[in-house]
Amino acid sequence: MTDDVFEVHRARGPFNAAFFSPLGPFIEWNLRRHKRRVYSELPHTVVELGSGVGANLRYLRPGSTLVAVEPNVPMHRRLRAAAARHGVRLDLRERLAERTDLPDDSVDSVISSLVLCTVADPAEVLAEIRRILRPGGTFRFVEHVAARPGTPTRALQRALRRPWAWTFEGCSCERDLAGLLRAAGFARVDIEPFRLHTPFIPFNTQIAGVAHA
Ligand SMILES: C[S@@+](CC[C@H](N)C(=O)[O-])C[C@H]1O[C@@H](n2cnc3c(N)ncnc32)[C@H](O)[C@@H]1O
Repeated sequence: MTDDVFEVHRARGPFNAAFFSPLGPFIEWNLRRHKRRVYSELPHTVVELGSGVGANLRYLRPGSTLVAVEPNVPMHRRLRAAAARHGVRLDLRERLAERTDLPDDSVDSVISSLVLCTVADPAEVLAEIRRILRPGGTFRFVEHVAARPGTPTRALQRALRRPWAWTFEGCSCERDLAGLLRAAGFARVDIEPFRLHTPFIPFNTQIAGVAHA
């Protein structure tokens, strides 16, 4: 089981917060079509795991509430400012996605983007999502995953795994998240694999979809 402690590295914590601010629009432009599809018609209250500096606020209607589970405190100032700009009420929780502290069967929709690559134990996070979702609730995700075995992208993901994880605070490009989602016990999981064409090659293999509780 994961500890409840999220250690922000003195340099890399602020670096990542700063990195995702200017780079956010570029990543967003690349992911927008997939996000529009999976984040369409979100309910009035949404739980987001690892909100970062608020990339997904634009998919919520103004006036709605975002329960943001974000343990990385250097992100909080930018996240608060972004929520205010989008007119979204922010309920910010400095907690890990593995243990949100939300009640069982209490949530209609959980979202994440580019988070299951970074959490210590993605299977534990998926179990937590199932625990908090009401029957019929949805988990909507856009995540980057391991490329198919034997491909040049997969070889690069392997070769760069250590410096990549060091720079991006534990991020792994080698996770079979589609497999974990299918094994997590959801009633139904719809997954669309897709490929980005960015200079960040290990990051280009992605999935988007909806898991139904
Ligand atoms: C790559 S960033 C993505 C941020 C945002 N979702 C986006 O799409 O721009 C990963 C985020 O996951 C957060 N994170 C890392 N480990 C986490 C955990 N165990 N629980 C919740 N959030 C976590 C980080 O603080 C960071 O904000």
